[in-house]
Order: sequence, then structure tokens, then C-alpha cells
Amino acid sequence: MQLALIGNPVSHSKLPEIYQFLGQQVKKNVVVERVHTEEVHFYDEVNKYLKCETPKDGLVITVPFKEKAYEMCDVLTEHAAKAKSVNCLTLTDTGLICGDNTDGRGMVHDCQENIGYDFKNKTCLLLGAGGAAKGILSSLLHTSIEHVFICNRSTDRAKNLASSFSNQDKISIIEEAEAKKMHFDCIVNATSASLREDLPQGLPDRLKSDCLCYDVVYKAGDTVFSKWAKVKKASYVHSGVGMLVEQGKIFLEKLGLPEMESRSAIKELADRILVKKMNDTEFNEAMSHNMLCEGK
Ligand code: ATR
Repeated sequence: MQLALIGNPVSHSKLPEIYQFLGQQVKKNVVVERVHTEEVHFYDEVNKYLKCETPKDGLVITVPFKEKAYEMCDVLTEHAAKAKSVNCLTLTDTGLICGDNTDGRGMVHDCQENIGYDFKNKTCLLLGAGGAAKGILSSLLHTSIEHVFICNRSTDRAKNLASSFSNQDKISIIEEAEAKKMHFDCIVNATSASLREDLPQGLPDRLKSDCLCYDVVYKAGDTVFSKWAKVKKASYVHSGVGMLVEQGKIFLEKLGLPEMESRSAIKELADRILVKKMNDTEFNEAMSHNMLCEGK
């Protein structure tokens, strides 16, 4: 299977190794070509890779082109339409460009299937209101979650995010001071603060003993958010590796590969690709290129 990853930059991305690893599980050779492009050439590159004589089977779109990818689609899945952002592109049999968004599903699948977390009747603090938060909110609202409290550095952006969903009874916007005093069943850090070694606004003073803390960013070792969660003695602390693996699984299965098993892949990838194979210099370079957050 031949895919391309289009973004800027893409050189440090671990996504090709992750997809290759997932393919190996079902004895399929999955090759992901990295395509670094400038914004003015983005549409041409997509058309070139999907519509040339030997087209790719699919394209993975990463920062900063997810909104542009959304704009150029002829057909959208429900998830992409809701998120107004696209990270997977395919060509239909009739030659239409079809966009999907796997961000939120990747995170929710990881929690439900790999971590064994049940969102039923739970309260969630969702930190952030950007593209990643939108995909995650959409998927969380598809679970039996009781309520999602959104806290973001800019409250207007949080209001804007909430207003695009119909389930208003399940969503509240809260200020940093309110969040500090509350107790949540789970906290999802969907900001990009960890990429800059910052903690997001709105962290509560105390955690419930069985609280799940999930950072969409992945890196070798702990993110600042996961370090904070460990200090606060959260029972479950996870980063975005599982989300990225689950996203890959969703896309590859959609492209026709047999069902893959994620748990061992996540463990192997966390140990082998993300930690051992990335030395400090590579990691610091990747940090400076914001490339450790493919799930967004
Ligand atoms: P993405 O598509 O990765 O979500 P984005 O749309 O730029 O990227 O959104 C980034 C999110 O991280 C936003 O919620 C942003 O907060 P603002 O809306 O106030 O800008 C949040 N964010 C980024 N850096 C942050 C930081 N250092 N502290 C807190 N929040 C941060």
C-alpha cells in the first residue's frame, strides 16, 4: 500500500514508521512517502498524488494543512464535516476527493479499547479549543459521557467551539478559576502547550483518585502535562501515542487492510520507535519543529 504524508515540516514525523509497523502486523507492506510542501502548492500536491497515473492509495494530512484539505474535498465524512478539518484523503471510484477526520476517534478508541476507560456517566475537562479539541469533543459526545467542561486560554474560542455542537446540555465553558476548584473524572489536554513545555490553563488543584489524564501530544518520556498528572497522583496517565496508532489503524482498515491489534503496537512503538530510536538531538529538533503532535 502506497500512501503520502503531506505537511510542513514532515521530515521528523514518526508516522511513516508507525504505519509501516501496523502494516507488518497483517503482512502488508505500507509505504508512506513524506511530502514537504508550501501552502501555495498544497492543492497541486494533493491532486498530483491522488490523480496521477500511479496514484497513492490515500494521503495523510498534517499540520498546517488540515483546514485547507477540508476546503478542497468534494465529499466529507460526518466526522470531517463536524470538525471542519481533514487529516485523511482518498479518491472515490468516481474521482471525487473524500476527506475524513480521525483525530477524535483515535483518542476515544485508545481510551476505550487500549486503556479500558468507559466514558459512561463521566465528567471530562477538555483543555483547548483548537482543531484537535474540536475533533475530540465531537467524538466524546458520541460516547455516553455525562458532561464536557471546556476551558481554554482564550474563552471566546471555547465559546465558538461549543456553539458548533447541538448537544448544548452536555457542554459548559468554564474559566480557569472555576476549573481549579472542580473535580473531574477525566482531563484531556488538547492544547499544543506541551509542545512548548508549557502547562495549559485550567488545571484543577485536586484530582479524583481514579482520574484519567490524557495528553494528545506524544514525546519520548513524559510531557509536562503527564508529569503534572503524576505529581497529582492520577491513576491513568497517557500521551498521544495510542491516539496516533489508533488513527493509523482506522485509516488503514478503511483502505482495506484486515483488522489490526493495537495494544502490542502501542507498547512496541512507545518503546522502540518513539523512545529508543529518537535520541536527544532528534527529539529537540522535532520539538522545535512542533512535529511531535501528529494527532492534531
Ligand atoms: P491544533 O489544531 O493543534 O488544535 P490550534 O488550532 O492552533 O492547533 O489550537 C491550539 C490550542 O492550544 C488552542 O486551544 C490554544 O489556545 P488559544 O485558543 O487560547 O490560542 C492552545 N494553546 C497553545 N499554546 C498554549 C499554551 N502555551 N498554553 C495554553 N494553551 C495553549
